[in-house]
Parts: sequence; C-alpha cells; structure tokens
Amino acid sequence: MTNWSKSSWRAKPRIQMPDYPDTAALNAVEAQLGRYPVLVFGGEAQRLKKHLAAASRGEAFLLQGGDCAESFEQFSSDAIRDTFKVLLQMAIVLTYGAKVPVIKLGRMAGQFAKPRSANTETVDGVELPSYRGDIINDLDFTADARIPNPDKMLRAYTQAAATLNLLRAFSTGGYADVHQVHGWTLGFTDGERAAKYRDIANRISDTLDFMSAAGVNADTAHTLQSVEFYTSHESLLLEYEEALCRQDSMTGKWLAGSGHMIWIGDRTRQPDGAHVEFASGVMNPIGLKCGPSMTADDLKKLMAKLNPENEAGRLTLIARFGAGSVGEHLPRLIKAVQEEGANVVWTCDAMHGNTIKSSTGYKTRPFDSVLREVREFFGVHAAEGTIPGGVHFEMTGQDVTECTGGVRAVSDEDLSDRYHTACDPRLNASQSLELAFLVAEELTARRAEQAAKAAG
Ligand code: PEP
Ligand code: CO
Repeated sequence: MTNWSKSSWRAKPRIQMPDYPDTAALNAVEAQLGRYPVLVFGGEAQRLKKHLAAASRGEAFLLQGGDCAESFEQFSSDAIRDTFKVLLQMAIVLTYGAKVPVIKLGRMAGQFAKPRSANTETVDGVELPSYRGDIINDLDFTADARIPNPDKMLRAYTQAAATLNLLRAFSTGGYADVHQVHGWTLGFTDGERAAKYRDIANRISDTLDFMSAAGVNADTAHTLQSVEFYTSHESLLLEYEEALCRQDSMTGKWLAGSGHMIWIGDRTRQPDGAHVEFASGVMNPIGLKCGPSMTADDLKKLMAKLNPENEAGRLTLIARFGAGSVGEHLPRLIKAVQEEGANVVWTCDAMHGNTIKSSTGYKTRPFDSVLREVREFFGVHAAEGTIPGGVHFEMTGQDVTECTGGVRAVSDEDLSDRYHTACDPRLNASQSLELAFLVAEELTARRAEQAAKAAG
C-alpha cells in the first residue's frame, strides 16, 4: 500500500472507461471538481463500516437498492422521495423479520457510470459507441450524443449533491420518524401486501404507544425520529473518483468523497487493474461484485489487496450468479473466505445474473428468478453455516413496468407501458415491497432454525 496514491490507478490497465477526445476540457473539469467540496465525511464512512461489521456477524442486515443508472432527465424530488420511501418500507419489513437493525444503503447520489458488455450498439444497421451512463455520454442514439463529454461530470456532481441534500433532509427532518410508518404506504392501497404491511405498521404503532407510556418517545430517544441513510455507487469513472478523493482531516486517511460506500463491478475486478488499485487505498467500505467467473484464487487475491488488515466491515462481497447457479458458485467462494479467515459481509445481488430478453424485445428480469436467487443464497449459507448479511436490488419508487411478474403480474406485453430505465430493468415499488416480505420470511425461518439449534 505504500505506493498507493489517489492517482496510482493511472499506471494500471484501464477498462470500461471513456477516452475523452478533448484532453484540455477533461483536465479543466478534473481541476474544478478537485476544488469542490466532498459529498460525504470520513466519520460517516467509518460509521457505515461499523454497521457492516455488525452485518458480518449477523447482528445487522444490509439493504442496498436504487437505480441501475441515475438519470439527468428523471431527476426530481418525487423520484428521490419515492425510492427513499420504498427503501424505508422494505427496511421496516426486514427489521421485523430479522429482528436486527437494517442498514439502509441507496444506489443513489452518484450511481451514474455504467460498464457495458459491448463497446458499440447497432440499431437498424447503424453502429455507434455504447451509452455509458449520464456522467459520460447521452442515451440518444446519435453519433454526437455518444461522444464522451467531461462536462457531464460536473452535472453529475451537482445532481449527486442535491440528491444527498434531500436524502439527509428526509432522514433527519421528521419524514423518516418511525411514527410515520403508516404514512409510508405507496402504490398499494389494497390487496394482500397492503394488509400485511398495515399489520406490521399496526404492531409497530402499538409498540410505540407502549414505549411512550413507559417514557420512551421521540423526545427521549432521538433514534425514533430519524434514520441513518447511506449512499453508494459503482466506482467506475476514476477521473471523477480521483477528483473527489481527499485526505480525511480527522484520521489522515484517504476518503472517496463521492459516496459512503463504493463498489467494484464484476467487469472491472482484475486484481492488477485500475479499479481495484483505486479502491484499495481509500478508507470507505468497499463492495466487490462476485459473478460466475470468479475463482477462489481471484477472490483470495482481491481480499488480500482490498482488505490486507482484515478489517471487519471493510469488504462486502456482492454475489450475483443468477437463479439456478448459486449452488454452483457460492460454496467455492465461501470456502476461500473461510480458508483465509477473512472478515466479509455476504450479500446477494439478485438482479444482474437474471437479465433476459423478453418475447417483446425488452431487457427484463422475471420476479420469480430474483426471488429464487435470494432463496438459493439463503439456502447455501444455511448449508455452509455462514451468514447471509444482506440483499442488493435495482429498484425504484416509481410504478414502472421493467421486471416481469410479481403479484400485480407484469407481462412481457406490459413492459412497453412504463419502461423508463436508462440501463437495467428495476423492480417497481410494489415488486420491491413484495420481495422484502419474502426475504423477511427467509430471515424469520433462519432465526427459528437457530433458536431450535440453540435449544439443542
Ligand atoms: C450494476 O450493479 O449495475 C452492475 C453493472 O453490476 P455487475 O458489475 O454485477 O454486472
Ligand atoms: Co445494473
């Protein structure tokens, strides 16, 4: 680590990053961003790490979710509020099932850059460079729109700052007060799920009434009034990350100032590559996507590089194998972790291994596959005696039709109705909540199993 600096990644192989045609413009943007304030504080990153350390021991559970790609066009207070609200609802449901604190981590306020499986896209015989997220180029299918433009980094920074500002306001300004639990309902006024949510909300209200009678209320216990909400994104566009990387004044350590947690994607996790190099030197909690091609040896190298001190909460392994494949891949990685005696949080991204093309031509994900992958993830951990520490979803508070299935069954034909994602298909509000209930059932079953074991 002695050779690390915030720019040491530049000497390593870079992939999935744009070649900006105008170097002078790029340098000017980097210099400007380098003078802007960071978005998060080192103490917050440390605190998130402490919570993640608890998740690695089964004493907390991580809920990470948000857009695949945040978009400039769809940026609005309502969109931020609705995603925040659904995450709060999901967290309540999961807390109820897990009986441990749920760590709320948005894929928000910085999730702009996208790795792509192909460098170009062909439509009606016309081939253009791929769209790489609003921080890099535009989704429009024109040659101009696809040219990487460094000015977009400044706009992404501004949007991230405004998003985080609103999230902080919601988190502490009263909106997230647990007494509002009945008010967080969204997109479901009837049906089985609404009744189940109301049931939990009623029980929470009852408990709050009891606590208040016993002298514990929002005035005496401030934790009832606010939530801790953290942000995360894939650390892909390293010029942007480097410009916001600063030395923390309290600890002297280097902080990725662009968000609380940053993660490394499944396509950019080469142990000697630029992305791993950058992440290895910052103090933030780091996520690492683990896809089907990851070998035990890869993982061991990555753990050594990303968490040489074996600090608990530093490294979150985000398994994303696809339904039907978890049993084939997860056990060898769990074994690698055990052989190294490594401290990690295991979490399940049940989205990225389950992307298919619908009969109507849309990129989609069947709700049942998402659920099945989560269940397989829990199943393997139960068999191995290890801890499922969290879940990771691409989701939105908007009533989109991007993933098929769910109780309000979205069909292949429905996908065209409200397909708004700039990249991968997201669960809508109703599908997200439904999933939270099903994950909560897994967590409840796990607790019951452990209690039975403890009773002998
Ligand atoms: C993502 O999280 O949007 C993503 C691209 O994931 P992965 O790196 O796992 O493919
Ligand atoms: Co995605």
